[in-house]
Amino acid sequence: MRRPVVMGNWKLNGSKTMVTELLTGLNAELEGVAGVDVAVAPPALYLDLAERLIKEGGNKIILGAQNTDVNNSGAFTGDVSPQMLKDFGATHIIIGHSERREYHHESDEFVAQKFAFLKENGLTPVLCIGESEAQNEAGETLAVCARQLDAVIKTQGVEALNDAIIAYEPIWAIGTGKAATAEQAQSIHASIRAHIAKESEAVAKNVIIQYGGSVKAENAAELFAQPDIDGALVGGAALDAKGFAAIAKAAAAAKA
Ligand code: 13P
Repeated sequence: MRRPVVMGNWKLNGSKTMVTELLTGLNAELEGVAGVDVAVAPPALYLDLAERLIKEGGNKIILGAQNTDVNNSGAFTGDVSPQMLKDFGATHIIIGHSERREYHHESDEFVAQKFAFLKENGLTPVLCIGESEAQNEAGETLAVCARQLDAVIKTQGVEALNDAIIAYEPIWAIGTGKAATAEQAQSIHASIRAHIAKESEAVAKNVIIQYGGSVKAENAAELFAQPDIDGALVGGAALDAKGFAAIAKAAAAAKA
């Protein structure tokens, strides 16, 4: 049985006040909620504050981050390493987000390198994959997702996906308010799982595949009712404690 994971990707949003209010709110909202792993990925600067607030709330929330470097130390100005993330208790690290692929020109190969380095350091990669609107319209969705996954599978073996998380995020659904329908998302999730199953049935059966792209409290239950949707990677709606907690609760309820 796969346990759902609902993760908030805060992107470039935050201040000391906002982080404090959001995590204090989440600590309260998540009281007594079971059957779902809830994670947040604040900007790296706020990891220290987030770690302390999560601890105050009784460690109900998993701490994550939005990126990693592929070195642990050295002359790499501006970067943050897996060991530094670990130092602040972050375990679930988002890589390959479409915003980094686009604005920072991160290739499939570079993302795969990050994946390997996170695993080497005992951290959980949250590997984002997904197609653009043009690719979707050209019928290339599966080919794009397969190529992005294969960058890891072909270099590290399918077993590397054990204990990792895949986040399917169609780019056209991110921040647009236009989420994939539950049926659309289910169909792609099933195909992603089938692609992995060609290499290993066991890995495919166990790997968490989150959906991301305009997930909110209003559409969460319908998405999580689908058998191959194991949680969500949430952007905008993760910035509100009540709304984000409602998404986490919907995942717990759907998979109970
Ligand atoms: P939104 O939920 O704002 O569409 O963002 C999704 C996302 O990119 C999460 O990583």
